[in-house]
This record gives sequence, structure tokens and C-alpha cells, in this order.
Amino acid sequence: MHPSEEIKFEKSRKLEGKRICLCITSSAACIEAFYLCRELIRHGADVDVFMSEEATKLIHPNLMEFASGKKPVVELSGYTEHVSLCRKGCCDAVVVCPCTANTISKIALGIADNAVTSCVLTAIGSKVPVIVVPAMHLSLMKNDSVEENIERLKEMGCIIVEPRIEGERAKIADRETIIENVIRCVREGDLEGKKILIIGGASAEKIDDIRVLTNRSSGKFAIELVRECFERGAYVELWHGWMREKVPDYVKSREFESVEDLLKMIDDCKNFDFIFVCAALSNYIPEPMDGKIPSNIRGLTLDLRVAPRLIDKLREIVGEERIIAFKAEEKEEDLIKKAKEMSRVFHMVVGNLTSSFGSDRTKIWIFKDGDVLEKEDKKDKLAELIIDKLGG
Ligand SMILES: Cc1cc2nc3c(=O)[nH]c(=O)nc-3n(C[C@H](O)[C@H](O)[C@H](O)COP(=O)(O)O)c2cc1C
Repeated sequence: MHPSEEIKFEKSRKLEGKRICLCITSSAACIEAFYLCRELIRHGADVDVFMSEEATKLIHPNLMEFASGKKPVVELSGYTEHVSLCRKGCCDAVVVCPCTANTISKIALGIADNAVTSCVLTAIGSKVPVIVVPAMHLSLMKNDSVEENIERLKEMGCIIVEPRIEGERAKIADRETIIENVIRCVREGDLEGKKILIIGGASAEKIDDIRVLTNRSSGKFAIELVRECFERGAYVELWHGWMREKVPDYVKSREFESVEDLLKMIDDCKNFDFIFVCAALSNYIPEPMDGKIPSNIRGLTLDLRVAPRLIDKLREIVGEERIIAFKAEEKEEDLIKKAKEMSRVFHMVVGNLTSSFGSDRTKIWIFKDGDVLEKEDKKDKLAELIIDKLGG
């Protein structure tokens, strides 16, 4: 067994049975191609590697053979690898990562003068999705011809995974962003055309200039919902409070701290088809004090007022039919009673227990159209179930 087989399905089966052509060109970021290849396999993909000759001067094909379990194609042979491996029916997606300014421009002009460009042009010609991940110095990226050629690639139907601009560099997108784009390409896009907003994380209410009142919400459910909706083709935004989980780069995100900060953003909710409110928002707000409350006060009392309820304002602005409300309670019977009551009003209600905050696994109750579905599983699987139940 080749060593690359040992890691197959380590992360998921989302790319099971999918063949991906990974095309590597000669950017300094090509060292990332090794890790990307392994990550694709961890999600279950079969990977065929194509390398430009220039790329082989930066990383050796042996490394990519170790990563993928197959000899990389560096030069086309009588086997016509660009046709036999890259056309529809043989390949599910082509990922050009990293993609140099040179290769971007060649693809835009329809030049097929090496293994990589021949693979990409064949894929475009036979309607196989092509994902291009540019990486270069910013001065190259901002060159008029390169900018125009990137636009041309978009017109040709290529998905451009935008680089992270840091100082003078247009750095390769992070690995998670590239993987999520590959999965989105090959998964059934049943949410295509839908605009979905996920509001998650914990609010933090100011006590004084350095202290806040917050809660134990990790934001994990919000992240799993973002991932599921993105992979299924939706336009997704994440509005988040404090998160223990990493905020993903692959969707637009906006940050809030307090409930009142979030309320100031609420008018922008009108643009979405569905709004998931799974944030843990404070029910009480302290009267904030200037400076730092001295640390030696005995029996300090905080005055708390009741916080405005986001969900009530949201109902006024977008109507109940677009809202998916989350309800957390300590006791199962209270939860079921309250969530059932709420489900008479909202598109869908998801109930969970406060004991699940921060954990990977939990039990939920989904209330929709008078039915209730109870399920215990990992949060990623539950997110999939929630989206299955979403309906039109
Ligand atoms: C060490 C090194 C790093 C490079 N990094 C980049 C890069 O990040 N982006 C880029 O567009 N070109 C980069 N280049 C220039 C390309 O390698 C050069 O344009 C080459 O002709 C591209 O060939 P290819 O597109 O066939 O791989 C780099 C060159 C070297 C030697």
C-alpha cells in the first residue's frame, strides 16, 4: 500500500470517489501544494498531480509522488495525459495551486504549451470546474495585463480563490479556503442562488473599560452551518461576536461585540433569504463604568438592565418566515415546551441544551411545520441535517 493511502478519509468522505487534478506552477508558495494534496486525500479524493517544468525547479516531483501516490505529469507523453486525465468524466475538478502570473496569462490567452496549461484548457473546454489560486508579489498582481487576465479567467468560468494581501505580497489563500472551494465545486449545489446569513458567537457587554459580561458559547455551530451552506452553493455571510473557533476566510464576515452593536447592523439583514440566529446574546446589560473598577472593592454590585431582543427586532424587519431561531435551555422539558411554542411563528426552530456549549457533540431538536426531529451527533453532521430540513 502506498503511504498516501494511510491518510485517506482521515478528515471526511466529502471527496470520496472524486478525482482532482492538482496543477502546480512555480510560485514560492508551491511548498503549500504538498499539504493541499494530502488534505484533499484526507477528505477522500484521488489526486493526479501536474507540474510546470519551472515548478520542478522549486519542488521535486518525488515529493508530490509521495504526497499523491502517483507519478506527477511534468511532460505530456503518448498517453495524452491532458485528455485522459483532465476531461469531463475523468476528472471532477482542476485546481491550479499555486498559480503564477505567467500561467494565469497563458490560460487567459488559450496557450497550451506545457502539462499544466494543456490540462487546464482541456478542463475548461469540457466543462470541468477549474479553481485558480493565485500567489505572487503584489506588483505582479496589480499589473494591468495580469488583472485583465484574471477577469478573463472569471469570464471563462474559472473560480478564483482570492489571495490574502499582506504588505507587498498577494499570498496564497489558506488551505481551508481552497479545500472548501473544491468541496463546493463537487457537491450538489442545492442552495445555489440563496443568500444566507448566520449570526453566531457570544456577545460581550461592557462592564468597564477592560471587563465584559459574556458567555461560554464557542461559535462552533455557527461555523458548521457556514461550512454546510457554503459547500451547498449558497452565498453566505457570518456575523459573529466572540468566537473560540477560527473565523473562516472563505466567507465574508462582520464582527460585533455587544447586542446593541449587532442591532445597528440589522437593516442589512433584509438582503438575505434565510437568517440563522444561533448567537448567544446577552439578556442583561450592565451600566458601563468609565476607566477600570478598582480590584479591591468588597461586595461590588453591578446594575443590570434587560437587553433588547434581537429576534423581536428581526421579526419586524424581515418577517418570521426567513428566521431560523435557536433556543438553548438547561432542562430538556423546558426546552421542548419553549421551542415548540416558538416554532408556531418562525420558519424553523432548533433547540439544544446549555450543556452542549463548546462541545463537538450534542443533541438537538428541530421543530418545523408542526413536526419535531430529535437527533444526537457531532455538530457538523447536525448542521447537515438542519440544512436538509430548511426547505424553500
Ligand atoms: C523562487 C521563485 C519564486 C517565484 N515566485 C513566484 C510567485 O510567487 N508568483 C509568480 O507569479 N511568479 C513567481 N516566480 C516567477 C515564475 O517562476 C516565472 O514567471 C516562471 O516563468 C513561471 O513559470 P510557470 O508558470 O510555468 O510555472 C518565482 C520564481 C522563483 C525563482
